[in-house]
Order: sequence, then C-alpha cells, then structure tokens
Amino acid sequence: MKKVYIETYGCQMNQSDSEIVGAIVEKNGYELTTELSDADIVFVNTCSIRENAEQRVKNRLNEFEHLKKKKPSLKIGVLGCMAERLKDELFIENKSVDIVVGPDAYRDIPNLLDEVSLGVKAANVLLSEEETYSEIIPVRLDTNGVSAFISIMRGCENFCSYCVVPFTRGKERSRDYRTIVKEAQDLFDKGYREITLLGQNVNSYNWIEDGKKTNFAQLMKMVAEVSPLLRVRFSTSHPKDISQELIQTIAACSNICNYIHLPVQSGSTNMLKKMNRKYTREEYIQKIDMIKKYIPDCSISTDIITGFSGETLLDHNETLSIMDYVGYDYAFMFNYSQRPNTIAAKKYPDDISLQEKSRRLEQIIEKQRELSFQSNKRDIGKEFEVLIEGKSKRSEDKLYGRTSQNKVVIFNKQDLKIGDYIYVIITDCTSATLIGEIKM
Ligand code: 5AD
Ligand code: SF4
Repeated sequence: MKKVYIETYGCQMNQSDSEIVGAIVEKNGYELTTELSDADIVFVNTCSIRENAEQRVKNRLNEFEHLKKKKPSLKIGVLGCMAERLKDELFIENKSVDIVVGPDAYRDIPNLLDEVSLGVKAANVLLSEEETYSEIIPVRLDTNGVSAFISIMRGCENFCSYCVVPFTRGKERSRDYRTIVKEAQDLFDKGYREITLLGQNVNSYNWIEDGKKTNFAQLMKMVAEVSPLLRVRFSTSHPKDISQELIQTIAACSNICNYIHLPVQSGSTNMLKKMNRKYTREEYIQKIDMIKKYIPDCSISTDIITGFSGETLLDHNETLSIMDYVGYDYAFMFNYSQRPNTIAAKKYPDDISLQEKSRRLEQIIEKQRELSFQSNKRDIGKEFEVLIEGKSKRSEDKLYGRTSQNKVVIFNKQDLKIGDYIYVIITDCTSATLIGEIKM
C-alpha cells in the first residue's frame, strides 16, 4: 500500500481540510503515515494569507526537492490556497512538484495520483459553489483524542481589501446541519470532549431547505445538545455579522464556551473603511458591549493588522486604544502583507515601511502582553472548570487543560486522565498561562 504523508501550514481550517484529504486517500487504498521517511507521496497543505506563510512553504518544497533526488519515486503534491493562487506556476518554480490541488478539488486526488503514477504532472484547481465535503468523515490527525475541528462552511465572500481568501477559497457555502450534528455526535461517542466549529465567517452560516432557514445560533444549539459534557467552540466571527441571538445562545448553553474570537483588524474607522470591513470603530465597540452585557465572564480575542496602506500614527493609536477598551485576553498580530490581486494590491499602495510596521507591531505586541497578564491576574483566586488536554511539556508531574474562556491552566498530575473535567483554583499566572490547584 502506498503511504501518504500530509504536512499542514496555516489556519485551523487547513488542519480540518488535511483531515478530509486523509479520509479521501484512506478510502481509496492509500495508507497515512506520520513518518516523512516512509512516504511515497508527500502532500503540503498550504496557506497564502501572508507572504511569509508562502515563503515558508517554498523553503519546505526545496527541502522535498532534495529528498526526491534521493528517492526519485517520491511524488510531491501542493494542496490548498497556494495551489489555488499559483496553479501551474508551482510546476515551473519547483520542478519536483507533481500534483497541484485547490481547496475544492480534494475528491479528485485519487484520480490525480493515478495520473502522476504514469509519470505526468496533474492539477485540479477548480473552485466549486457546492462542495462542502459534507458526508466525508475526516481522519483525525495530530489529535489528543479530546479536541477536534468540524468544518461547517467553506469559502468567503467578504472581500476584505487586504485578503486573498475569497480568491483562493471561493464562494461561501454552508454544510447540511445534520451532517455537522452527526459528526459531533460521532466524535463525542469516540471520547472527544471539545469541538470547534470552523468557517471563515461562521456568523453567516445559513442552511436553507424547503424554505426553512437554519442559522448559526440554531446550529450551535443543536450541536451543544449532543451532550452537556461536550464543549463547543467556534471560529471565526465577523464583527459585522455577530448577532444578539448568538450571544444569548452562548449565554444560555453552559457547554458553549465563553470565548469569542472577534477580529478587529484596526481600531480606526478610516482604516476599517479602506479594509472593507463594513463596520466602524463605534459599531465594533457596540458588539463588544453586547457580549460583555450578556456574558460577563466571556474572554475575547482578536486579530490585528498593523501598517495597512496609509495608516497614520493616529490610526495606530486608535488600535492601541481599542485594545485597552476591550481588554483582549489574547491577540494574533500581524504586519500588513500585500497580497497579489487583492483589492488593496490594486487600489492602495503598500506605503508603510517594514521598519515602521514592525515598530508599531512591537507596540501592539507589548500592549497585548500587558493585557493578557492583567486578565490572567484577575483570575487568581477564582475557580474554573477545566477540561484536561494533556501532559505539560515542561514538567513530567503536571497536566494542562483549558478553561471555558480558552485559557491554558497547568496543575499537578494526580489520578486523572486526558478528557476528564476537574475544578481548579487559580493560584498564580504568567502572561501566557494560569497555574492552579485542583479543588478537592
Ligand atoms: N496581511 C496581514 N495579515 C492578514 N490577514 C489576512 N490577510 C492579511 C494580510 N494581507 C490576517 C487577518 C485575518 C487573519 C486570519 O490574518 O488579521 O483575520
Ligand atoms: Fe479574509 Fe475578510 Fe474573509 Fe476573513 S472575512 S477570510 S479577513 S476576506
């Protein structure tokens, strides 16, 4: 049996896609391997969101090229966003690439593998308006047996001006809610205790059948009803679409985690307009106030882009001040990276120097470190329900888990196992982790 090795770059969505690819190849007579040295076929599932993400993959492809020199029968495939964006260019840039497959063409992989076995190159980068891989049961890769992702929709039509995703992942489409609930139930039956529902903009999940609509809040409720012991998370929310109904649903269901990732990108209305985010600073703040009103202990994280076209120091300071207002618990922070063919690449110059972007980014990172530390310090003395996820990497006699708020807690091992729920009292913290003691 030929062995397939899959390496994943980028977001959680890519992790979930690799698990779909794993299921497709297994069903078609291939075996998955976690050892690169055993592989007959290597797939790299790629990300195009920033230039450095693509560069990392290109460097990796060069390494695979060396590997292929030693093992000429090795086949190399590029999957995902870079496959969609660069298409045939990948064959030219890297002679060792045999297969190029876009995000909507994974079902075609067995055919493409048949073609390359004849010594030709093969590609399928067709985008689809319907494909959701709905009935495919993913093979869980890189799993702790407790947490898993479920992809609930694909594509994005928001066209934020800086973003390449609408071009690489195509039109937005939702997956039949019954297959999502069934996947959650199967995971629970197998011992999983936490699932994250994934989509580029989960708030616009919309399944229509016989004139009846199912929205994201309704879907969340159905998934939460699988079992009170199943924690439900979701990612990512677009601030323009997050609804009061969803926030009230989170507040009402104890197993929907009190954690919302709400990417702000910038605190300046001018920048937000240019980014085509379709909300103002004030509207974003209103959504935050609504979250805090209904779910007072909700943790909130965000994405921030620094140094977008024309960003002034005033705009930058507005980002710093909105961070203070919200008091984010966590943030993913990036220098703006101009992506070819996006609206911003066509309309707006990339006019902030790398040095200046990095200087602003450093301030944002420093601000977030302080906010995370403050947020963790506020937890000292409080008690949290923690789902145990694994052994601490640093210390043999400690375990770690997460609170509903998605904060990592380290505590002493005892007679406990991964997947158990326990109560922990927080005794100390760093800016990145909580330290606690199990409540007897
Ligand atoms: N440059 C920098 N960051 C970007 N993101 C998306 N596109 C770009 C870009 N061109 C960030 C956004 C998004 C996250 C997934 O990646 O913050 O929310
Ligand atoms: Fe990109 Fe905006 Fe879609 Fe997110 S919502 S994937 S940032 S276009």
